[in-house]
Amino acid sequence: MTKAETKAETKTNTQVTPQAPSGTDSSSAHKRPFNFSAGPAALPEEVLEIAKEEMLDWHGSGMSIMEVSHRGKEFGQIVEQSQADLRDLLNIPANYKILFLQGGATSQFSMVPFNLLRGNNKADYVNTGFWSERAIAEANKYCQVNIVASGESGKFTTIPNSDSWQLSKDAAYLHYTANETIHGVEFHYIPQSLDAKEIPLVTDMSSNMLSRPFDVSKFGLIYAGAQKNIGPAGLTIVIVRDDLIGQVDSKAPTLFDYQYLAKNDSMANTPPTYSWYIAGLVLQWLKKNGGLSAIAETNKKKAELLYSTIDQSEFYQNPVAQDCRSLMNIPFILKDAALDKVFLDEAKKAGLLGLAGHRAVGGMRASLYNAVTVEAVQALTSFMGDFARRHG
Ligand SMILES: Cc1ncc(COP(=O)(O)O)c(C=O)c1O
Repeated sequence: MTKAETKAETKTNTQVTPQAPSGTDSSSAHKRPFNFSAGPAALPEEVLEIAKEEMLDWHGSGMSIMEVSHRGKEFGQIVEQSQADLRDLLNIPANYKILFLQGGATSQFSMVPFNLLRGNNKADYVNTGFWSERAIAEANKYCQVNIVASGESGKFTTIPNSDSWQLSKDAAYLHYTANETIHGVEFHYIPQSLDAKEIPLVTDMSSNMLSRPFDVSKFGLIYAGAQKNIGPAGLTIVIVRDDLIGQVDSKAPTLFDYQYLAKNDSMANTPPTYSWYIAGLVLQWLKKNGGLSAIAETNKKKAELLYSTIDQSEFYQNPVAQDCRSLMNIPFILKDAALDKVFLDEAKKAGLLGLAGHRAVGGMRASLYNAVTVEAVQALTSFMGDFARRHG
């Protein structure tokens, strides 16, 4: 989350008069506004309710889970359950470690080269936009970065065809950003390095982790900041294949060593306990609601609804190529940028928040993470239709 986004989103979060979305009866009228923020983002209401209930007294302990030791038996239950739930949801093989860390995805931009270069001086990176560029800039400090492909000439509206990628035989790893949160560009397939074992695939899944099932065994390392689809800010998930840890650069800070972190069960220092607890509740919510296949269906339905609203209208436009349109973050522009502010103001009055696009691309962006309901997207598309009729 950039400063500009934070500012825009903080601004839109005040003085809202939520309305029941059209098409719902008043008995089920939605009490809270719908939140389309890119991150920190909407959390399942059910999870927030549980957190509210448990705030002063977690499971009869007489304390908030925020107030107990991370090494005590209460928090220990959360650690065990959340690890098991994540392993179960993503079907993570036994030879992968799961780490619950601090530092955000941005820390991973340097932790990955520190740990995975393993004496090598070269790494392959795919450049699909803003977050790829950030990862590349950081890796450049530690090794020679080979950009295997870049979507820059098309203003990051496409992913260059993998047949054209200039992969290296001697790269330490291949890194790509599974979903570019700002440009709304998502990989709908898992790319391959020239050697799956020797050149592990590394991915930044910050904005699409847990949005659908995928084969973890194809990866050497997966990382994600939690604050979009997993839980609150402050927590970062890393899933790493066993054989890739233990060769960290000797100059790396101790807390950047995956092996050290794994040996200490993500408790080398005090972890972000409350974020971890909420993430644990989100994982249970996902399991209770049918797991990743079920959420993937819903996510597809939501994205289709918004894309079809955009595509069927001459008033809105999404510039991303069909084959790599993100199901999570959908940027769109209005026919006349002079209407942007009016759109955001009216949306806010209608109880639709967090729609300002990132300053790098302008316009609007709707993030449709797991916790954003079909009802929310219906309210947004009906508002968009109405707005286009009145201002078109
Ligand atoms: C794809 C992606 N990678 C990395 C980041 C940076 O994450 P963090 O703020 O957790 O460091 C973001 C934040 O929005 C992101 O969307």
